[in-house]
Formats: sequence, C-alpha cells, structure tokens
Amino acid sequence: MTRPLGYDVDDNAARFSNYFHVLRELVHLSNGWMPLEPSWPRKYALGDHVHDDARALTKIKRRLYELRHPAEYPGSPSAELERLLDRMAAVDSPRAYVEVAYGEAKPALVRAMRLQLEHLDPIADEPSLRLLTQLAGRQEAHVAELGDGVRGGPEHDIGELPIRLRSEPRRLRILPPLVEPARDDYVEVTEQGDPYLTRDLYVNGAENHVPIEEEEQQHFFHGLMDAELSAAELMARNSHEYPDMPWDFHVDMARQNWDEVRHARLHDLLMKDELGCQWGDYPVGFSYFKSIYAYDLLGRLCLFNGTSEQRAMWRHSHRRKTLMELGQQRVAMVFDYLLADEVPHVHNGVRWGAHLLGGSEQAYRDKVRELREDLDETGTPSETPAST
Ligand SMILES: [Fe+2]
Ligand SMILES: [Fe+2]
Repeated sequence: MTRPLGYDVDDNAARFSNYFHVLRELVHLSNGWMPLEPSWPRKYALGDHVHDDARALTKIKRRLYELRHPAEYPGSPSAELERLLDRMAAVDSPRAYVEVAYGEAKPALVRAMRLQLEHLDPIADEPSLRLLTQLAGRQEAHVAELGDGVRGGPEHDIGELPIRLRSEPRRLRILPPLVEPARDDYVEVTEQGDPYLTRDLYVNGAENHVPIEEEEQQHFFHGLMDAELSAAELMARNSHEYPDMPWDFHVDMARQNWDEVRHARLHDLLMKDELGCQWGDYPVGFSYFKSIYAYDLLGRLCLFNGTSEQRAMWRHSHRRKTLMELGQQRVAMVFDYLLADEVPHVHNGVRWGAHLLGGSEQAYRDKVRELREDLDETGTPSETPAST
C-alpha cells in the first residue's frame, strides 16, 4: 500500500494553528461559563473537558514548536474561523455556549483532525499521527457527553483555513463578574448555608471536631461537596478573568478545576453509597466563595490556595487518622486523596502568586501573612463559616 502524500511542514503547522485557536477559545469560555451552569453533571463535564482541552493545547503548542512555528501565539485566525469563534463568544447562557461549543466548534475540530489523520504521512509525520489520534478521540468523547446529539458547524475543513501572521492577536471576551455560582433548582441556597455545620469542624488544632456519626457526616460531606464545587468555580474564574497570564497558569487552573469537581464527585458518591443522603438534601451558602472572589487574582491565590487549602491539609490528615482509628476506612480514604491533591493546589498559590510579585516567593509569603491578619480562626475573611 502506498503512503499518502502528506502535508508539507508549513501546511501542517497552519492546521495545528487553527486547532490552537479553537481550543484556546474553548478553554477560556468553558471556564467563564462553567460556574454559571446549574446542572451538576454538566458542570462536572465542563470541568473535566476544560482540563482535557488545556492539555491538548499544550501538546499542540509543543508540536508547533517542533514544526518551527511560534508556539506562544502562532498568528491570528482567518475571518472565517473568527466567525465561528465570535459565535461561540457571543452567547448569553451556559446552554447556548454548549450548543455552539459542542454542536459546532468541537465537531469542526474532530472533522479537521480526522481528515488530517487520513492524509498525513504516517512515518514522516508520525508525531502528528499519534497526537491527533489521541486528541480526536478525546474531542469525540466530549461531543458524545455534552453534545446533546447536535451535529453542525462548518461543513468544510477548518484545518485548511489560512493563518494571519501579521495581524493583532485575537482578544478574548471576558464575561461580566459572577454574582454567585449556579446550582441545580433542587439545591436550596441560603445566606448562612447549612446551619448544622458548626465552626469546630473547620478549626485547626485541639478544638477540631471530626464528624464520626452518620448524621453529622451527612451534613459535613454535603457541605464539602459544595465547597469543592466553589473551589472549582473559583479556579475557572481565575483563568477566565486573567487571560493574559502565562499559558501554564491556565493549565494549572484547569487541572485544579478538574481535581475539585472530581472531589465533589467523590463526595456525591460517598453520600449515596455510604451515608444514605444526596446532593440537595441540605441548604448551601456562598458567603465564603463571595468573600474570596471579591479579591483580585493575587488576593484569591493568597487566601484560597495559600491559606484555606494550606490549612485544610492539616484537617484532612487529622480526619483521616481519626476515622482510620475508628475503622471507617472508606471515609478515611477520601481524606487521603483530598490531602494528596491539596499539595499541588497550595503550590499553585506559591507559583502564580510569586509570578504576580515579580517572581519572589518571599514577597508572596509576606503578602499571605499580611492578608491572614484579617482572618478568624477558621481561616475566613469575615464572619462567614469556612467550608472545608
Ligand atoms: Fe478539593
Ligand atoms: Fe483543593
């Protein structure tokens, strides 16, 4: 069998540049809309896919570099591709966003990647073959999950659209600031959240109370699930609202977004399987989320990653140990993984907080100390209950 002729290096790079633009816009807008999506399963899918897309874009940047093309920003999209990106950016609800993103943009990516796989030279261009096989498969899985059976988008191959090398970089639309995240209709949102959850659950040290009875665990894990969702939503908005941060920042935020929705999923399953309760059984509140979201990126990193998550590590380890001693291994295991994932989350604060302060980790630590002076013993900026 003769091999297909394949693409020359420049045409190949132009194809990857088009994928770059679609994925860059998808990561940016999925992060913007994810907190506003009320449905828990759809919110989870957005958090999962945004991480996949961010990693895909990292690999595409790498391939562009290998093909001797600028990997940071490989020239601007054509007017034709911009029409698709503009449609995706112009929507006014998470549902409408998913319709364009999963009904047009992702199917267009899949179509172009599959075409490229058919026509590339499998030996000379084997790196693209392996990369695109993986990426097209992931994008197909995303469309199958959230595409609602919609098939649309440009019929032609977006991979062959030209790239404009000498025009201004495309501006990304930033959504208005969040008033609060969205929850399913059946979840009651109140000012104070679940009154069952007391402060001694969230303090560090001798007075910390580990929930060991079934009823208190029901409330505790329900509150924790909401706290994980809020953490994911905060990371999503950090990425969306600060598009000029280095690309690795967006990858770190996407990873943490996915980790936090995974933690929420873990609590959701634990409630159903072990605790006899479910998401929506108790009220939730957003006062803690709002108190952190009100800060700029540096403040959020100092107070959330550098303080709240840093202090939660001690509590997770303490909870794990106490529950192990009581023979509640399944519940104890959850805290083991929460603790492990918290390490990189705390590091995200150090890495990007220092970046915002001219690269100085010392300046970040000083800023954390300064902002912590206004906190109460549960680590919250005001009289609002902490939640992890
Ligand atoms: Fe978490
Ligand atoms: Fe975390």
